[in-house]
Amino acid sequence: MITRYWNTSYSIDQAAEKDDSAIQEAAELLRAGKLVAFPTETVYGLGADARSTEAVERIYAAKGRPSDNPLIVHIAERGPLEALVAAIPAQAERLMRRFWPGPLTIVFPLRPGAVSPLVTAGLDTIAIRMPAHPLALKLIAASGCPIAAPSANRSGRPSTTTAAHVLEDMGGRIEGIMDGGPTGVGLESTVVECTAAGVNILRPGGVTAEQLREVAAQVTHDPSLGRAATLAPTGVPLSDRGGADSGGLPGAGRPGVRNPGADEFKPRSPGMKYTHYAPRGRLTIVKGDSPRGVMERIRAEVRQARSRGEKTGVLTFAGPPAAYDADVVIACGKPGDPASAAEHLFAALRTFDQEQVSFILAEACGEEGVGFALMNRLHKAAGGRVIQI
Ligand code: TXA
Ligand code: MG
Repeated sequence: MITRYWNTSYSIDQAAEKDDSAIQEAAELLRAGKLVAFPTETVYGLGADARSTEAVERIYAAKGRPSDNPLIVHIAERGPLEALVAAIPAQAERLMRRFWPGPLTIVFPLRPGAVSPLVTAGLDTIAIRMPAHPLALKLIAASGCPIAAPSANRSGRPSTTTAAHVLEDMGGRIEGIMDGGPTGVGLESTVVECTAAGVNILRPGGVTAEQLREVAAQVTHDPSLGRAATLAPTGVPLSDRGGADSGGLPGAGRPGVRNPGADEFKPRSPGMKYTHYAPRGRLTIVKGDSPRGVMERIRAEVRQARSRGEKTGVLTFAGPPAAYDADVVIACGKPGDPASAAEHLFAALRTFDQEQVSFILAEACGEEGVGFALMNRLHKAAGGRVIQI
């Protein structure tokens, strides 16, 4: 299959009118049941007409995604919402007014028959968002379709934040890629459901719990998030290479493989039970109260790994890169600024792959603001491997 590539002059913060022919061509493909990747303010999405089962089937196939993991439906204006949902809770109304367009996905009761049952993976709810990227909004509006769009990466791999990354994962598998520059937030949207008392966060993301508190009386994190974190083994010594890969977590690190315990805690956002974002190398997080201690431990682990013949990588959020003597050292964002780290996290994980790094150590990032979502993704990328010192 030939993948068309449109190098548009749109970017996250400016729109140029002159690319409207590219938008019309891409919209035409979407209307014909084809797959087109496009930028949003969070990550690139892989779009298809949400009403077409054939088109949605092809999303799952192109990504290699398990079909019990439902997709988010993207809209460009409020108009089409009524036709997709069975009800709009007052809380959802407040959230939409405050955060749309933007990185917030809201789970609504589904209007039966509104989209292909494959989109919702058989659930009686539908996740909807209005992205804040001029190219995404124009494309969705021009298509006239509700657009189902998961992140445009092969299942299990880091999400894509540039069109080049989309091409790497999806070239030859989809009909089109619209390049609208690098995305802004760098992590996916926050997924919430409305509760009687406020909102429940099913997946942390671009909109923080602190921001949600501005318009919701009560903001909770779904217990499945906490359980997922406590399921992670801590203090797994790197020298302990025995047993299954991934710190003894069978299957972790491979796309489409359930994390252990997934069936027991039944995540409300089905995607949270799968291993995600994993680089090909073995990634471990090193955490501790003393930055110096963390640095020393990472240095020691790097030395040990190099002596085993591994190609080593270090991901740092705080330390100066010169502090580490690994083959590839990536300083992710500005020190003390989780938002800038979030912007670059997935690209950093992909760089380790390009450099064929086999053994990666990551510092932990501060969990304030979007740092919470960043650490959620990093834990998944690490398959739960954490050295707590
Ligand atoms: O920022 C984003 O949200 C990006 C861009 C492209 O918009 N999209 C994205 O889609 O991250 P995806 O498919 O990679 O993740 C969708 C998440 C999954 O965790 C899925 O389980 C959850 O949303 N989800 C979808 N429908 C749901 C539903 N009805 N109830 C609960 N969770 C749902
Ligand atoms: Mg995804």
